[in-house]
Amino acid sequence: MREAGVNLVSVGIFSWSRLEPEEGRFDFAWLDRVLDLLHEGGIQVDLATATASPPPWLSHQHPEMLPVLADGVRLWPGARQHYCPSSPIYRSAARRLVEAMADHYAKHPSLVMWHVGNEYGCHVPACYCDVSAAAFREWLQARYGSIEKLNEAWGTDFWSQRYGSWDEIVPPRRTPTWPNPSQQLDFLRFSSDALLECYDAEHEVLKKATPNVPVTTNFMVGFKPLDYWKWASHEDLVSLDSYPDPSDPASAMRAAMAGDLMRSLGHGRPWILMEQTSSRVNWRDVNVPKAPGQMRLWSFQAVAHGADGVMFFQWRQSRAGAEKFHSAMVPHGPVEQSTVWHDVVRLGRELGNLEPVAGAQSTASVAILFDWESWWALELPSKPSSRVRQIEQVEALYRPLFEANVAVDFAHPGDDLSQYRLVVAPSLYLVADEAAAGLVRFVQNGGALVMSFFSGIVDPSDHIRLGGYPAPFREMLGLDVVDFHPLADGEEVGLDFADGKQGRGAIWMDEIHLAGAGALATSIGRPLITSHSFGRGTAYYLGTQPDASATARLLQAAVAGAGVVPVAEVPAGVEAVRRGAARKSFLFLLNHRDAGVDVPIQEAGVNLVDGAQVHPGLMHLPPRGVAVIREGW
Ligand code: GLA
Repeated sequence: MREAGVNLVSVGIFSWSRLEPEEGRFDFAWLDRVLDLLHEGGIQVDLATATASPPPWLSHQHPEMLPVLADGVRLWPGARQHYCPSSPIYRSAARRLVEAMADHYAKHPSLVMWHVGNEYGCHVPACYCDVSAAAFREWLQARYGSIEKLNEAWGTDFWSQRYGSWDEIVPPRRTPTWPNPSQQLDFLRFSSDALLECYDAEHEVLKKATPNVPVTTNFMVGFKPLDYWKWASHEDLVSLDSYPDPSDPASAMRAAMAGDLMRSLGHGRPWILMEQTSSRVNWRDVNVPKAPGQMRLWSFQAVAHGADGVMFFQWRQSRAGAEKFHSAMVPHGPVEQSTVWHDVVRLGRELGNLEPVAGAQSTASVAILFDWESWWALELPSKPSSRVRQIEQVEALYRPLFEANVAVDFAHPGDDLSQYRLVVAPSLYLVADEAAAGLVRFVQNGGALVMSFFSGIVDPSDHIRLGGYPAPFREMLGLDVVDFHPLADGEEVGLDFADGKQGRGAIWMDEIHLAGAGALATSIGRPLITSHSFGRGTAYYLGTQPDASATARLLQAAVAGAGVVPVAEVPAGVEAVRRGAARKSFLFLLNHRDAGVDVPIQEAGVNLVDGAQVHPGLMHLPPRGVAVIREGW
């Protein structure tokens, strides 16, 4: 570990059955030895609470703590994460273990961070058993107070679903056809909260024992079931597990987006890359290894987007178990021959050189709105088109900003947006009154907004906002969406831009009636992309999904119009990201191409990766090469 520059390790994540081999009997001797050895070696510990995989004795004694799927199938033990989040049996056993661990390790000198559970919701995001049903009813009572209010919120007059008492309510289990959408939405909210209660219970124990030790739990990329805005506010720092597919050309963009989201979830504070793989995973159909230099490049990319630490799953490749073909820092074979090990050692050394970057925060003038509740509601069934997927719509508008090296934050629609010049709202289907009013105010006060189709359609109960689509934004956008016209798979419409350029639209087409807005693009004479001066700002509307180059042109115009400048002008395929404030900043240059490239440099500085002086002019970056230039010091 010292050779690889390791200074922090996560320990004990799945070791409940070792730590508590039988109910109430704890065995910490083996873990003491591990922690002592690490401490002697100068390595700090992110100690896991080990509650992500209950031991066999627990489910054997209490099979009722196992989770149940929507169709009534109970999951068996034998893998991991086999617990009902609302089970009092699981919760009290987890609490007892965490209390014992906190008590035993509170004073251990290696302990610098707590790692609660593991990837909450990854395999079992929701449970539909009777215990969960009772917990759901309690959650609903707290939300609505009266059954009348629930009936109103769920629109239960439709299909004779009116409830007379709380006892009649069950989770949206497998039904003859679509369960009530408002009920489904509430169950998604409840399920995220039920797991958060598990996290909170452990968090409370840990904070009591070690008030100054930061607590985290590892998030995942593009993970729908948990409302990470809510979760992140319960953590001391955000951490992420990131496994981009080396064979997918979109991976670099997706990893950048995930990093921006993590930084934003922590309101700009540094986050930590808790897990990545040194090379291959084992859970895709075909597990392509990372290309030479890709692990290093993507590690630096995480730091560029705000990570202050880069960690791996896993240290040593296992000999047995379901993940024995997953790469590790230390492979099965001899390390001397392993390029993976060589790369890991090099990364450790180079990350050590980045010490001055730690803690540096970034600023962005552009924010993309991202809301789990809207995501959940958008993707419930029985919509005009199931082809409108939240992440795809966000990516469609993130990509051109990423490619133009424009710094981007993510924001919740209800956030104060006044620090931004441009806000992007990709298919923001569900919006609360206050958030809608906040967006309108943002434009009124001089902001630029790019909003795409199927936004502002429903309220938080998933009820249509009446008065014409999109009711809260019609005046601001200067238009009425008279009706939706989803496009068939493969169908495209031509776009004629006001500047004479052509493009294509896919997935969706709004029937737009202009009421003050001007058409930026039409399709057979009908307006599809518009802009409207409203108050002191401008609101753009995309009534279709334009092709990539049309989207890029539109966003570039919006960015320039809002007075936002990119981080740097660099060749295509090179990503430029800045961390830190003006005159005390670090410019990350990341060459995602598998060919070398010359990058224009404006300002002198020092490349922290190798300590070399950097001069204005052209700087050569080898294939997948990186530079971190300390500027203006
Ligand atoms: C997740 C888990 C790890 C491991 C890896 C494999 O990130 O947290 O325990 O299963 O996936 O990629």
